[in-house]
Parts: sequence; C-alpha cells; structure tokens
Amino acid sequence: MAERFTKSMARNMYMGGSLFFILIFIGLTLDTVRQLPERDNRENLTESVAHGKKLWEDNNCVGCHSLMGEGAYFAPELGNVFYRRGGEESFKVFFKSWMNAQPLGIEGRRAMPQFNLNDEDLEALADFLEYAAKINTNDWPPNIEG
Ligand code: HEC
Repeated sequence: MAERFTKSMARNMYMGGSLFFILIFIGLTLDTVRQLPERDNRENLTESVAHGKKLWEDNNCVGCHSLMGEGAYFAPELGNVFYRRGGEESFKVFFKSWMNAQPLGIEGRRAMPQFNLNDEDLEALADFLEYAAKINTNDWPPNIEG
C-alpha cells in the first residue's frame, strides 16, 4: 500500500472522475434527445402554429411575458394561459377579445399595448399558445397561474 498520496494517484482520480461524469452527461443527453419526439407535441405543429410563433417573435411578446419560464417577468407567464383561460372550449374567444381590448386603461394596473393584429394573426397566435401549452414539460409551469 502506498504510504503517501502521489501525483499519479491525484492525476488518476482527476482523469477517472472526469471520465465518469462525462459519460453520465453523454448518457443523459442521449436520453433527452430520445425522449423529445414523444414530448414536444410535434404532431400539432401546423402552419398556423409556425406563423403564430413568428408573430410572437416579431411583436416581442417575450419582452414582457415569459413562456415556460423563459422571458421577462413584467406580465403573466403564458405557458399555460390556454388552460387558464378556457381551454378547448373558449380560449380562442377569450384570446381574441383580450387582444382586441388592449390597452385596458385601468389606472394602477400594468398595461399591455394594442398590436392591431388581424383575425388570421390572432388565430395563429392562439394556435401557437395552445401548441406550447400541450408540450409535455413535466408540469412546468407548476401551477395554473404560472
Ligand atoms: C409591454 C408589455 C407587454 C407586451 C409586449 C405584451 N404583453 Fe401581454 N400582457 C401584458 C400585461 C401587463 C398583461 C396583464 C394585464 C392585466 O392583467 O391587465 C398581459 C396579459 C396578457 C394575456 C392575458 C394573460 C392572462 O393570464 O389572462 C395574454 C393572453 C397576453 N398578454 C398575450 C400577449 C401576446 C400574444 C403578446 C405579443 C403579441 C403580448 N401579450 C405582448 C403586457 C405585455
């Protein structure tokens, strides 16, 4: 048995430890990539959803809102707004009238601008938010209010 801790022992621990965790990292990465196709809701990725995502970006909704935690924290999280505001039954109706009613002009309340989008654009944005809500994110955001 070695009497003292040698340089080569330290090097082996460093190399072995690094290799061990690199392998775990690669394994977890492959596992994630394998699971994505079942979780990313790609079967509902329509033209309209893609158009909605473009509008989401062009209008910088994320400058005030977050989507699944990503974005700004000035306005409500929208990752589950589809479920919060009516779901299959009435989300579209809610969403269109919400967008058309802005700004609400209530004193003391944070305001959202008017974007003057047409009906087709609003439809696409609603489809995009519905698509996002149905991605399997392990229940993130954690509650219905985001
Ligand atoms: C300048 C900041 C700002 C931008 C940009 C913005 N919003 Fe908002 N939004 C708000 C605020 C503030 C509220 C909450 C207003 C309130 O409760 O009266 C809100 C609320 C909402 C709601 C309702 C949320 C709920 O829980 O009922 C929806 C839906 C929404 N925004 C969608 C959008 C979309 C889509 C865009 C991009 C086209 C967008 N917002 C861009 C500030 C913004």
